[in-house]
Amino acid sequence: MSYDNILLERPQPGVALIRLNRPKALNALSRALMTELAEALGELAADNEVVCVVLTGNERAFAAGADISEFAGKSTVDMLTSYRFQQWRAIKEFPKPIIAAVSGFCLGGGNELAMHCDMIVAGENAKFGQPEINLGIMPGAGGTQRLTRAVGKFRAMEIILTGDFVDARQAHAMGLVNHVVPTELVVEKAVALAAKVASKAPLALQLAKESILKAEEMTQDQALDVERKIFYLLFSSEDKDEGVSAFLEKRTPQWKGR
Ligand code: CAA
Repeated sequence: MSYDNILLERPQPGVALIRLNRPKALNALSRALMTELAEALGELAADNEVVCVVLTGNERAFAAGADISEFAGKSTVDMLTSYRFQQWRAIKEFPKPIIAAVSGFCLGGGNELAMHCDMIVAGENAKFGQPEINLGIMPGAGGTQRLTRAVGKFRAMEIILTGDFVDARQAHAMGLVNHVVPTELVVEKAVALAAKVASKAPLALQLAKESILKAEEMTQDQALDVERKIFYLLFSSEDKDEGVSAFLEKRTPQWKGR
């Protein structure tokens, strides 16, 4: 498939790289861009050659948020009936590990998009924020929930209620970011991390991701129950037999994703 607002690359075996590509608008998340992102994720979810995905923007912006020009003149009913958030389901439900490589502005819906990912690698020039308050609105793609879970109530309150940005080092200290690297290396670092992840057993990766996400949605007892059942489930995979045999035979496992 070809896209106008994103670029799709295969930088390493098992790894796909999606670049948001509306540089003139700082990668603002227009409806067209989000539709293409959802389509690309659907394509990558179904592609057995892809084990892990990296999502990035460019050096100036990961994404500066929703496309504000699409908000002008819109009413509650317009927003409710435009199914704006349907496209976000593709990333929320994306089954494979996905890593955000963030440089520059990562604001509003852009920060919410990064927080939909499973890990965040930031360039030193990254600026994270939820500036919706300056538009007289508030985050609506998970910002009040995912940011609060990531950094805690008090920091989330300050970021969302003031609209102030936090830099990469502050975001790292808060636990929002996995690694901070020189800006020009952010994609390289994220792709290397993705390649390491992609060298593991694909089914175990997907199910471990699913289980980790339950920690945010369920009580601990319920989530432990899910974890145990998913753990048993992997015992019917060929990769579990291969992984255990390879360890015992002191060789490198050859994963099949089955
Ligand atoms: N939507 C649409 N266009 C945007 C945009 C956005 N979110 N952010 C930047 N742009 C456009 C600007 O309008 C400008 O376009 P023109 O050259 O045609 O004028 C271009 O990108 C470059 O931006 P600036 O000239 O403003 O660049 P700057 O370096 O001076 O400032 C900035 C950068 C601080 C990020 C500033 O652009 C800004 O504040 N952007 C808006 C950030 C924001 O409020 N995001 C939240 C949106 S709401 C949301 O995200 C809600 C949700 O998802 C649920």
